[in-house]
Amino acid sequence: MIPKQQIVHLPVYQPGKPIEEVKKEFGLTEVTKLASNENPFGCSPKAKEAIIAEIEQTSLYPDGGAVKLTAAVAEFFGVETNQIVFGAGSDEVILMLARAYLVPGDETIMATHTFPQYKHNAHIEGATCIEVPLKDGTHDLPAMLAKVTDKTKIVWICNPNNPTGTIVTHAEVKQFLESVSENVLVVLDEAYAEYVDPATSQFHDGLALLKEHKNVILLRTFSKIYGLASLRIGFGIGHPDVVRCVNQVREPFNTTRYAQAAALAALGDQRFIDDCRQANSEGIAFLKEAFDRLGLPHYPAHGNFVMVDVKRPAGPVFQGLLRRGVIVRGGHQLDFPTWLRVTVGSREQNETFLRTLEAVLAEAPVNA
Ligand SMILES: Cc1ncc(COP(=O)(O)O)c(C=O)c1O
Repeated sequence: MIPKQQIVHLPVYQPGKPIEEVKKEFGLTEVTKLASNENPFGCSPKAKEAIIAEIEQTSLYPDGGAVKLTAAVAEFFGVETNQIVFGAGSDEVILMLARAYLVPGDETIMATHTFPQYKHNAHIEGATCIEVPLKDGTHDLPAMLAKVTDKTKIVWICNPNNPTGTIVTHAEVKQFLESVSENVLVVLDEAYAEYVDPATSQFHDGLALLKEHKNVILLRTFSKIYGLASLRIGFGIGHPDVVRCVNQVREPFNTTRYAQAAALAALGDQRFIDDCRQANSEGIAFLKEAFDRLGLPHYPAHGNFVMVDVKRPAGPVFQGLLRRGVIVRGGHQLDFPTWLRVTVGSREQNETFLRTLEAVLAEAPVNA
């Protein structure tokens, strides 16, 4: 058996250690997981009720077109229903975009470092990835524009960027879109958009850009602020022609009944979202102040995570935190050898993380 040549050297995704495994390995009763940018407050109680109500329908296939949810999302964002496509997480929308648009020999442009699934899926399709280094932890859009050629099919912009948490502004994205060929699809991954404070950040207005440019697709997810990560549901908002192409490669029943019902209920509970956004902003302020006090540089955080430079090899700091029951994402696994990415938790989780970090830093060797 011979697999596709382009997957032979692809790594298998390495998930972070599950809470139960960490408890067992280190003999702990309490573990704080701040590694996957999940919502520490769970999801809306209305979403939980919707999941339970759906139980009786378990033997039935879901609505493949997610008609009710599509209508609600379209109304919420003020777009047409033919501009929305759902995936099993926005991960699947990324996969479908790569599947629909990339063939061997194509080029696709992304930052390094950013969300790894753009590159992963592009490789599966045999496309050539052109990686453009971040500048001060932020997408360098002029440098990305300079890399566009006749072969470029997709440019990926993760805003806010994972793992750095930085943003590019509306003016910067607009300038990019006005300069790039209309034949290039520009993906604006807005997985953390709901966390961004538009008043202070000049964050891009994806819907306004979409009205002006046919070659844009916005990616959103119910996994982050909506707290439905386990159900796997995300979506794209784009021009009907782009959405049609994605639908052409979509599996017929790619989102479950539970996911659709919970997403519909969660969307209807914006009070929960506002509360989560508020708690997240307070958490970021708390962590920033602590990092400043400890003299640890950090990137401006606009999502629900903060990237901090612990100024010594991240591996031992990550392990020290793990042994004490705090799971974060170590920069040594992300090509940021002295950094950690920590998800903003509840107040109590943030305090636990900080207390533990201070204890670990007191022990870990400094990279003088
Ligand atoms: C930037 C970004 N995009 C997309 C995703 C995928 O999210 P999901 O597939 O859960 O919607 C993530 C998940 O961490 C992410 O950080």
